[in-house]
Amino acid sequence: MPVRFLPNDAQHEAQSGETILQVAERAGIPIERVCGGRGTCGKCRVVVVEGELSPLTSSERSSLSPEQLSAGYRLACQARVTSSEDVLLRIPAESQVEPVRILSSGTSDVAPQDPWVTRHHLQVPPAGLADQTADLDAVLAVWRSRYSDPLRLDLSALRQLPAALREEDGRITLIKARDRVIDVRAGHATTPLMGIAFDIGTTTVVGFLMDLETGEELAVASELNPQTKHGDNVIARIEYAESQAGLESLQAEIVGALNRIIDATTKAEGCAREDVLAATVVGNTTMQHLLLGISPVHLARSPYVPVYTTAQCVAAKDLKLGCHPEACIWLLPNIAGWVGADTVAVLLATGIYLDAEPALAIDIGTNGEMAMGSRERLIACSTAAGPAFEGAHISCGMRASSGAIEQVWVDDEVHWRAIADAPARGVCGSGLVDAISELLRVGVIDNQGRMGNPEALAARGLRHLAHRLQGENRHRVFHLTGSDDSENGSLVSLTQRDVRELQLAKGAVRAGIEIMMKELGLHAEDIRKVYLAGAFGNYIQPSSALGIGLLPSFPNAQLLPVGNAAGSGARQALLSYRACEIASELPSRVEYLELSGRPDFQEEFVEAMLF
Ligand code: FES
Repeated sequence: MPVRFLPNDAQHEAQSGETILQVAERAGIPIERVCGGRGTCGKCRVVVVEGELSPLTSSERSSLSPEQLSAGYRLACQARVTSSEDVLLRIPAESQVEPVRILSSGTSDVAPQDPWVTRHHLQVPPAGLADQTADLDAVLAVWRSRYSDPLRLDLSALRQLPAALREEDGRITLIKARDRVIDVRAGHATTPLMGIAFDIGTTTVVGFLMDLETGEELAVASELNPQTKHGDNVIARIEYAESQAGLESLQAEIVGALNRIIDATTKAEGCAREDVLAATVVGNTTMQHLLLGISPVHLARSPYVPVYTTAQCVAAKDLKLGCHPEACIWLLPNIAGWVGADTVAVLLATGIYLDAEPALAIDIGTNGEMAMGSRERLIACSTAAGPAFEGAHISCGMRASSGAIEQVWVDDEVHWRAIADAPARGVCGSGLVDAISELLRVGVIDNQGRMGNPEALAARGLRHLAHRLQGENRHRVFHLTGSDDSENGSLVSLTQRDVRELQLAKGAVRAGIEIMMKELGLHAEDIRKVYLAGAFGNYIQPSSALGIGLLPSFPNAQLLPVGNAAGSGARQALLSYRACEIASELPSRVEYLELSGRPDFQEEFVEAMLF
C-alpha cells in the first residue's frame, strides 16, 4: 500500500497494520518522537491530506485539539495503515526533525603535560646465530636501557613485531598507551597521534578530535543521539533495554553515532581513522552502560544500583569502533547510578574539587546534575529536571533547532527571537525559561504559577498582553506569537500545564540545591562561585533562571558560564594521564546524595515550586 509523504514527496510501500511512524522510519523520514512512540508526547503529528487510516485512538483524542482533529491531524505512532488505497500525508513543520544546536565549546584546554599515548623510536640490534635473542627480549632490553617505566606487548603487538623489526633493520616505532604497546611500526614513523574525546548526552553526542602531542583541537562533529527515537529521556532508554534485543540495538545505535563522528572528524582533518589511537568517553551512567552493552535496568529500580562505577578501559575493536583497533577507549568513572561520568568531567573541568571556598557546579541537560562544596567536602546529586529545559513535555516545546523560540522579552509588546531567525515553530528550554520569567515579572503569571485572566490584566492597563490570554482556568493559554509569525499560521503558545511542568522541573533543581546547602551547613551567601554548565549561561540566561527561582540569588557568588564542561573534562582526560588519575579518584571524594531518600525532599520541593 503506497504512502506518500509531503513536503519531500517521497512514496513508500507500507504493510497493513503498520503505524505511520514505522513506515516513515523504514523510509528514513525523520519525525519527532519525544516519547519514543508511546503515544504520550503528542509530538509526532502528521496531517492526512488524502486517504484513510485506522480509527482515532484515545491518545490522539487527548493529545490533539478539536481544531487539529478536524484539520486531519493524526499521531504517527498511533495511526495505522489499514486500506489498500493510497495515503497522502503532510509532515507539518513542528514535527520535522531539524539539526539540533549542540553546545560543543567549553573551558579552554591545557597543553598536554603527561600524555598517556606516546611514540618511541627504537633501534633494536639484529639477532644472529651467535645471539639468538628472541625479538621480544631484544626490544625489552633496548627499552630498559633507555626508560625506567614498564613495557607490555600484547598478542596483537607481538604479531606485528617480527615483520616490523626486519623491514628496516631493527628500526621500529612503538606507540604506547601507558604501559601497553598498541602499535608496532617499521622505521621511525612520525604519523600524527590523534585521540577523540566523546561527550555522550541523552539528546546529543559530540566528539572532539585532538592532537595528542600538541593538545590542539583539530575537528569537532556532533549529532542527535540516535537512541532518542526510543524516547527523549533516560528512563525510556532503560525500559527499551529491558530486552536483550533492545539493549543490543541501543548499543549499536550509539556505536554507530561514535563511528560517524570519527569518520566526520578524521575526514575533516584529512587523516586516517586508524590514526585515532585513544578516546575518552563521558556521559551519564546509563549512557556509559549502554555503550558497553551492559544492562542499565537496575538503575531504574530501587535502590538504583549501577553495575559498575570505576573507570573502564576497553580496546576499540571490542566496541566495534572504527579507529585504530587497539586504541584505548577510556570511559571516565561514574559516581552513582544517577550521577555519571559527565559530572566527573564537569568537576574535572571546573576544578571545583580544588576550590578553597564553597562553590556550586550545575549542569542542566536532559537531567540536572549538581555538585556543591570545596576541596574539604564535595557532595553531588541528580534531579529528573531536564526534559522541560530541553522543551520536552511542553505543548509547543521543541529541541533547540531552527525555528525554536530561544529568547523572549516583554515591554509594551511581546518580543521573541527564534534560532536561525527562522519562522517560529515552537519554544525550546531557554525560550520557555525567558517567557515564564518575563510573564512573572509583568504579572501575567502569579507566584503560585497561575495565569491571570484577561479582564484583570486589562484592568491593570495590560491590554496589550490581555488579548494574548485565552481559555479558562486550567485550559488557559498565552500566545507568544501571532498567526503571521509561523509558516503555516499556527501559534506558539504556553499553556497553564506548561507552566506547571516548568514548576516541577525548577522545583526539583532548587530543592536539590537547598538540600545540598543544608547538608553542608551553608547558606546562599556562603557560595562564592556558581559554575553554570551545559545550556546554562550559554542559552538559558542566568537572569531568567534567577527570575523563576531556579537558582537562589547567591549574593556573594560569581556566576561563571563554563559551556560544555563535560566535553572539556573529556578533553582534559584525553590529553593528560594526571587528569585521568584525578578523574579516577574523584568518585571516592564525592559523597552522593540520593534525594529520593531524603525525608525533607518533598517539603523543599513543594516550597521550591512556588515562583
Ligand atoms: Fe507519538 Fe510521542 S505521541 S511519539
